[in-house]
Amino acid sequence: MAGYIVRRITGNLYILRMNDQRTEFFEGTWHIPEGITYNAYLLKTSEGAVLFDGWKKNYGREFLEALGQLVDIGEIKYLVTHHAEPDHSGTTPLILRENPEITVLGHPMAKTLLEKLHGFKIGKFKPVRNGEELVVGGEKLLFIHAPMLHWPETIFTYIPSIKTLLTCDAFGGYSIPRTIFDDDEEEINEYMFYVKKYLVTVIGFHRRNIPLNIEKLRKLNLDIKIIAPAHGLVWRNYPEFIVKYYEDTAKAVGRKKVTVIYASMYGAVEEAVMAAVDEAAKHGCKVKVYPFTDNHHSDWGNILTDVIDSDLLIIGGATYDTGIVPPIHAFLTIMTSRLPNTGKKVVIISSYGWGGLAAKQMKEILEDKGYKVLDIIQFQGRPTSKDKEKIRQILSQHIKYKETNKEHIEEKQH
Ligand SMILES: Cc1cc2nc3c(=O)[nH]c(=O)nc-3n(C[C@H](O)[C@H](O)[C@H](O)COP(=O)(O)O)c2cc1C
Ligand SMILES: [Fe+2]
Ligand SMILES: [Fe+2]
Repeated sequence: MAGYIVRRITGNLYILRMNDQRTEFFEGTWHIPEGITYNAYLLKTSEGAVLFDGWKKNYGREFLEALGQLVDIGEIKYLVTHHAEPDHSGTTPLILRENPEITVLGHPMAKTLLEKLHGFKIGKFKPVRNGEELVVGGEKLLFIHAPMLHWPETIFTYIPSIKTLLTCDAFGGYSIPRTIFDDDEEEINEYMFYVKKYLVTVIGFHRRNIPLNIEKLRKLNLDIKIIAPAHGLVWRNYPEFIVKYYEDTAKAVGRKKVTVIYASMYGAVEEAVMAAVDEAAKHGCKVKVYPFTDNHHSDWGNILTDVIDSDLLIIGGATYDTGIVPPIHAFLTIMTSRLPNTGKKVVIISSYGWGGLAAKQMKEILEDKGYKVLDIIQFQGRPTSKDKEKIRQILSQHIKYKETNKEHIEEKQH
C-alpha cells in the first residue's frame, strides 16, 4: 500500500497516514521489511484546525499535499507535538515555514528539542502542563504527560467530544496494515507480532513506564472509545485490548515459549542445540529457533520480539579467540541493553577447542543484567551422546508444560 491515506476517523477528526515502505532500518537500527506508518491527525473546529504531529522529513511534499485535501494551511491554528522524535516532527519546520502564525503546543521540553533536532526557531510555542486543557472552537483538548513513552517530553491528547485519545508512539506497531481501523480480525492477528516487535525494539528499554502510564490513565477515568496512535492501526473496536496487550507485554511475562539463539561455525554447537530443541518441543511448548550460521544470520528485532514473552532462553555459542563467538557476543549486548532485568531463565550451551571460556563470559554478561542462568552445558569439540543426554535431562527439569503442542518454528521459514 504505497503513498498516503487521508480519512475521517470520527466527528471532525481526520487521519493523515503515510505508508513508509522506503525505511529499511527504523532508527537506523531495526530491520523493518514490513514497513511502518506515520499517522498525523487533524481536528477541524469553528475557530481553525488543530494539527497533531506530522511525518518523517522526506515526506514533506506529500504531507502538504495531504493536508491540502482537508484545510488551507492558513487555517491551522495549533500544532500539537506529542513527541519530538523526527519520525513525527520531521515535517514541522516545513509547516511552520508555510504558516508562521501556528502556535506549537507541547511538553515544556519539546521546544528546545524540536529546535535543536531540526536546526530552526519556533516563533510561537506554548508549553502545556500535565492535565492542562485548551478550548478551541468549542472543542476541548486535555493534555496528559506520558513520560518515556517514548521520550521524556511525550504527551497524549484526549478529546472528550469524540472520546478519542491520541497516544503517539504508545499503542503503536510496525507494518502497513491494509485497514485504518481494527475492523478485521485477520488483519489484527497479523498485526500483533509487529506491535510486539515495535514495543520491544523501540520502547522496550522504557518498558517499566508502560504500566505506570497506563495506571495514570486509568486513574483519570476517561471515557475512551478510540485510541489513535501515530503508528499502525487505530483502535475503535478493541481499545481495551491494545492497552492490555501493551501492559502485559511490557511486564515480560512468559507464554509457554522457549526461544533458542545460537551461533555455530562448523556445527558442534548446532548439534547440541538441536537436541535441546527436540526435547523442548516434546514438552508441549512453542519453540522459536534463531540461528547464526554460515548461511543465515537471524534478525535482532525478531529475536527480541520472541524473547520478551519466553519462559526460557537457550543460548548457544562456542569459544572464539578466548571470547564468545561474535554473533552471540553482539546479541547478548543488544538483548541485555535493550531488555535489562527481565529475570528470564537461560540455559547456556557451549563448545571449545583447547580452553572453554565463552560459557563463563556469557553467564557473567547475562547475570550482570538481571537474567537467571540455570545451567551451563559445555563440551570439547562435538557433543557426545552423553552430552546430548545431559542436555535433554536438564531441559526436562526446567520445562514443566503438560500439553502437547509441538510447534517448532525456525526463523529461516518466516
Ligand atoms: C576462529 C576460531 C577461533 C577459535 N578460538 C578458540 C579459542 O580461543 N579457544 C578455544 O578453546 N577454542 C577456540 N576455537 C575452537 C572452537 O571453540 C571449537 O571448534 C568449537 O567446537 C566450535 O563450535 P561450532 O562449530 O559450533 O562453532 C576457535 C575456533 C575458530 C573457528
Ligand atoms: Fe518515538
Ligand atoms: Fe514514532
